[in-house]
Amino acid sequence: MTNNLQVKVWRGKEEGGFVTYEVPRLESQTVLDVVTHIQRRIDPGLSYRYACRVGMCGSCAMTVNGKARWTCRTHVANVAQDGKLELAPLSNLPVIKDLVTDMTEFFDKWARAKGSFKGDQTRHDEFALVEPKSEMRMAANAGIECIGCGVCYASCDVVSWRPDYLGPAALNRAWTLVNDVRDIGNAERLLAVAGDAGCHSCHTQGSCTERCPKHLEPTASIAGLKHVTVKALRRKA
Ligand code: SF4
Ligand code: SF4
Ligand code: FES
Repeated sequence: MTNNLQVKVWRGKEEGGFVTYEVPRLESQTVLDVVTHIQRRIDPGLSYRYACRVGMCGSCAMTVNGKARWTCRTHVANVAQDGKLELAPLSNLPVIKDLVTDMTEFFDKWARAKGSFKGDQTRHDEFALVEPKSEMRMAANAGIECIGCGVCYASCDVVSWRPDYLGPAALNRAWTLVNDVRDIGNAERLLAVAGDAGCHSCHTQGSCTERCPKHLEPTASIAGLKHVTVKALRRKA
């Protein structure tokens, strides 16, 4: 395969424009290979981010031909049949430069959704025994593999409409912890996710679930949160 690819790449910050590069088409080439070729062989000033190259770190996510994707796991053959690629930074996040976005707000929202584990055991206690087949363990298991790549967040219309919305990843994380029987932070957590910018703002159309490269289902997690927050509210009434 010797054809060239026409690759339009976002250059600049929030203000900027697309620059077109010609990149040799190679067998089994990933979109990350294309970006790396541009940075190493054509324009060393191009900024982008990656670490693992094997779908584990989540840092290489970008907008590829209009959709958020991990670039290291996206084969050019699957997205650029016509030999054209358009690469932009992830949506719904401030652009630092070129293909690099600022993830601060994304992770701040995990904190706002009380997305860190809160336990009450010490290292002197016995290990907690959690029945693998229990309903709660299975629910926690369903969302636990999230690697924080931001693909779901960049694909969520509600985040675009109201930037304070906690978003699919933070809410998925909250639901994972709601189902962790060792965690003692649920009263605070349910309060945090039930607010105006929380789970009830989700319109359930499922772009997050459709786009998640780990095949997680934030929509289902958010539905779980809606259910338990309403139940908790009814108990109070
Ligand atoms: S289902 Fe909810 S969280 Fe997922 S993309 Fe739609 S609005 Fe966003
Ligand atoms: S839920 Fe999926 S798409 Fe969203 S941050 Fe986690 S791994 Fe990425
Ligand atoms: S470089 Fe780590 S997921 Fe792509």
